[in-house]
Amino acid sequence: MHSIYFLLAFLASNSLAAPSPMITESGIYSWSAPLARFYQEVDKRIQEARKSPDFPNPPACDMSKASMPVAPTPLPGPDPDTYLSHVAIGRGIQNYTCANSSSVPAPIGAVASLYNASCTESNYPSLTTMMTNLVINYPLPSDPTANFQPTNILFSGYHFFTDNTTPVFDLDTAPQKQYGYAVTKRDSASPAPSDAPEGPNGEPALAWLKLNTIDGTKGGLKHVYRVNTVGGSPPKTCEGKNPGVFTVEYSAQYWIYAADES
Ligand SMILES: *[C@@H]1O[C@H](CO)[C@@H](O)[C@H](O)[C@H]1NC(C)=O
Ligand SMILES: *[C@@H]1O[C@H](CO)[C@@H](O)[C@H](O)[C@H]1NC(C)=O
Ligand SMILES: *[C@@H]1O[C@H](CO)[C@@H](O)[C@H](O)[C@H]1NC(C)=O
Repeated sequence: MHSIYFLLAFLASNSLAAPSPMITESGIYSWSAPLARFYQEVDKRIQEARKSPDFPNPPACDMSKASMPVAPTPLPGPDPDTYLSHVAIGRGIQNYTCANSSSVPAPIGAVASLYNASCTESNYPSLTTMMTNLVINYPLPSDPTANFQPTNILFSGYHFFTDNTTPVFDLDTAPQKQYGYAVTKRDSASPAPSDAPEGPNGEPALAWLKLNTIDGTKGGLKHVYRVNTVGGSPPKTCEGKNPGVFTVEYSAQYWIYAADES
C-alpha cells in the first residue's frame, strides 16, 4: 500500500478518527498546528492526484526520482555502483553519559525504530520532511512493529548500536521482509542546517552523517546517510546532570544505499 492509497489511508486513519495525542511540555495532549498543516498538505496532494489521468492508480514508486538533501558541508556521495534501496524515518533516543558535573556528555549509542518512507519520498518529498519533523512529538507505538501514528507510516526496521561507534540498521525484520542488515562506521559528518528543527526541549538537531558498511552486513547494503535530523543533541556540558546515562529524543531520515551482490 503506497502513494495515493497510502495518503488516503493517512486521512482515513487520522482525520476521520480521533487524532493521536501529542505530548506538550506541560504534559497536556493537544492537536498541533504542524499536524494540521500536514493534513492540509496531504489533502492538497490528493486533490492534485485526482486530476491525473492515471487516477485512481497510484503513481509509481520510482526511487530513482528521489534526491537526497545536501548537507551544509556536503557529504561524499554514494559509490557509483550503488542505488537507493530504502528511505526510512527514524524515531528514537540518543544515549549519552556524564562522568561528573564538570565533564562533557559522551555519546554512547542510540535506539530507534525505522519507518518506510521510500514511496512518499519518491513522490512527495516535502510530505516526508513534514513527517520527519512531526514524529519527534509522538511516542513510539507500544508494539514496535505497529504503524506509527500520527502519519500512519509502516514499520521497516530497527536501529541500535553494538558498541559506542558501531551503528546497526536491521531491515531483516520477518521471513518475508529481508531487506538487509547494515553494520556501519562513520565516514563523515556535517553540522545540521542552522534552521533545522529542535527537539521538544530545545535540543539542537544532530549532525548529518555518512556511514559506510563493514563486515557483518547482509543484503548488499553499502551506505547509510542520516539527514533531515530533528533534535537529539546533548547539552554542551554535564552541569546539573547526575553522573550516568541520559537520553535525548530525536527523529531523522536514513537514506540506505545498496549494490547488487554478485
Ligand atoms: C570528571 O570526569 C572527567 C572525565 O572522565 C575526568 O577527566 C575529571 O577528572 C573528572 N573530574 C572530577 C572533578 O571528578
Ligand atoms: C540507551 O538507553 C535505552 C533506554 O535507557 C536503553 O534501553 C538502551 O539499551 C541504551 N542503549 C545504549 C546503546 O546505550
Ligand atoms: C517500503 O515500501 C515499499 C512499498 O510498499 C516496498 O516495496 C518496500 O519493500 C518497503 N521497504 C522496506 C525496507 O520495508
